[in-house]
Amino acid sequence: MKFLIIGDIVGASGVNALKRHIQNIVKNEGIDFIIINGENSTGGRGIKDKELNELYAVGADVVTMGNHIYYRKEARELYKHERRLLIPGNVTNLEGKGSVVIEKNGVRVGVMNLLGKVHLGEINNEFVADPFKTARELVEKLKEEKADYIFLDFHAEATAEKIAMGNYLKNDVTCVFGTHTHVQTADERIFDTGMAYITDVGMTGPDDSVLGLRTDIAVARFVTGEKIKYECSTNNATLHSIIVETDDNTKKAISIKRYNV
Ligand SMILES: [Fe+2]
Ligand SMILES: [Fe+2]
Repeated sequence: MKFLIIGDIVGASGVNALKRHIQNIVKNEGIDFIIINGENSTGGRGIKDKELNELYAVGADVVTMGNHIYYRKEARELYKHERRLLIPGNVTNLEGKGSVVIEKNGVRVGVMNLLGKVHLGEINNEFVADPFKTARELVEKLKEEKADYIFLDFHAEATAEKIAMGNYLKNDVTCVFGTHTHVQTADERIFDTGMAYITDVGMTGPDDSVLGLRTDIAVARFVTGEKIKYECSTNNATLHSIIVETDDNTKKAISIKRYNV
């Protein structure tokens, strides 16, 4: 089975890049299941109904989130009612789901979403439970729900925290992939236990920007030290993703590759 995992979609240009490329990727690579991180899809921050539906329309089976869960008030209703939209399962002050099992072509795919605790300054750590403890709980839950495969979107800043999580879960899940930094890492690999891993998938957003933020604003924020209002870049986006292939019999990951267009 082949899984396509697409990193943080940033604003309208990110959504447009998805629309431009995804059909070709699905067709050329023979993709069976798609996970998309949607935390920046509405104007660079958070998600609304419109963008969520656009992600579903291009074929997302599950949409994950991250630290931008609080930006849009209307998103709170989506977190409660949209079965295929996950929020980090270790966030304690917001109602939503941290994991889900989706059955597709007779295969049960479990997906979970967690938030790191290291250097994620803008979220009050008081409302983020231990991701390692929550990971263990969600894995057990997904196994009880008879998931054939388990994927974790670990939305975190620190490379060490993500690599530690990969090692912590290497006997229990199919794939641990990182999101949030918007910069793709080149450390994709298959662990000896048959788990696929990458520290960060990277964003689907404009390379000509600063992590999706308009370059002039981002630079001015650093140079002047002022909190100038965030504006999402409208430059053309690059799609950053990974493709994970699994063995249908052993249910282990057999390959992982970065796929950027
Ligand atoms: Fe993030
Ligand atoms: Fe992001």
